[in-house]
Amino acid sequence: MKLWAGRTGGDVDERLSAINNSIGFDSRMAKQDITGSIAHARMLGRQGIVEPEDAAKIVEGLQGILADIDSGALQIDMTCEDIHTFVEATLTERIGDAGKRLHTARSRNDQVALDIRMYLADAIDRLVDLAKDLTGAFCDVAAQHLETVMPGYTHLQRAQPITLAHWLMAYAQMLLRDIERLADCKKRTLVLPLGSGALAGTTYPLDREYVARQLGFNGISLNSLDGVSDRDFALELLADLSILMTHLSRYSEEICLWCSWEFKFVTLADQFSTGSSIMPQKKNPDITELVRGKTGRVYGDLMTLLTAMKALPLAYNKDMQEDKEALFDAIDTAELSLEVLAPMLRTATFHPANMKKAAQKGFINATDCADYMVKKGIPFRDAYKVTGQLVKYCIDRGLTLDELPIAEYRRFSLVFDEDVYQAIDLLTCVSQRRLPGGPAPDAVKATIQATREALQA
Ligand code: ARG
Repeated sequence: MKLWAGRTGGDVDERLSAINNSIGFDSRMAKQDITGSIAHARMLGRQGIVEPEDAAKIVEGLQGILADIDSGALQIDMTCEDIHTFVEATLTERIGDAGKRLHTARSRNDQVALDIRMYLADAIDRLVDLAKDLTGAFCDVAAQHLETVMPGYTHLQRAQPITLAHWLMAYAQMLLRDIERLADCKKRTLVLPLGSGALAGTTYPLDREYVARQLGFNGISLNSLDGVSDRDFALELLADLSILMTHLSRYSEEICLWCSWEFKFVTLADQFSTGSSIMPQKKNPDITELVRGKTGRVYGDLMTLLTAMKALPLAYNKDMQEDKEALFDAIDTAELSLEVLAPMLRTATFHPANMKKAAQKGFINATDCADYMVKKGIPFRDAYKVTGQLVKYCIDRGLTLDELPIAEYRRFSLVFDEDVYQAIDLLTCVSQRRLPGGPAPDAVKATIQATREALQA
């Protein structure tokens, strides 16, 4: 029998229940649902809308239900319509008539909007902690590789020398922005919809601000239609998580490449690698492949909710029940990804010698060679051209710029002297790029410091 039996009989076809029930996924909001109801009940008692003794009974009953769910003494009945009905029915079962007063001046429409906001705010806290942990891992590993020279790439072609630390800190910056975005989203998530009723507010003298304060919300919604039908905060979170996953996916792609014999810049720890059932030699980077693959799920979750919301008339529509599975899936996926990438990074072994070898090939110091000529008075465009010819000359002879004898340099330009070798030395090339944000060891050290400070804030 349904809680809303009355206008209809309430005895419904089981196929209606199959499509209509949400307890299969919204039971994970039990804690938020009960906490929200406790705040609502306290306010009802304080405002004299419900007798204070009844309100106290309701609060105590709800606290007992929460404790029993936590301890496992109370099993959530998965045949109920949703978590809201389960909690209310259990309360009435336990405390009698007073329980029937809990839903005064409230609709499941504003109740579910409250629950999901509370759930997302908690999830954001966990996600931020995990993102901070991974960012910290980037900083710690970077601090050990300030002088580990490697090629930087554009078009996946060796371009200019950077360091491993610099590369790691690029991902740390992305995560810092993700953390900022999540914190910003939390502000708009913590707006109280309770008091919107089903859609048109309520005639009871509620104290919405008091409920907001009890729950640690920033404020109250200012339009009851919007209060029950707004899911912007959920879309924002899904968008934020999509961007976060983009970052994790790009990082993962590079680690996959780096694990290959073609690169061999990194070896993952055995406990974070998998093998093949047939090829005995295989050690596979499944974690990073899966993070890359799971990124698609989170994009899909964003599309699911955007599409569900796009043509909904005001105010609440049952379509909106579809928000939860998308949100929970995106949150679970992002949490799992962040959680596994941090220890995988901390236990990985990077190979500076292979990075250096790669850096020595590919003429990634050619720009520095041109800059050397510029310092000797040659206009950059001319220096660029001469260096290009030098590179071609070296390629034809199987030499690097470092190996080309000075006499041959001087056949291209008389500005070349013995000091050119120092100027195009890879570590020199990196160290000279010392502007804030550059790859020079001191510049990266400053970035690590600033990032660690941002993590503290
Ligand atoms: N399970 C519903 C949801 O998740 C709760 C709100 C139901 N409201 C209603 N009018 N049937 O959206």
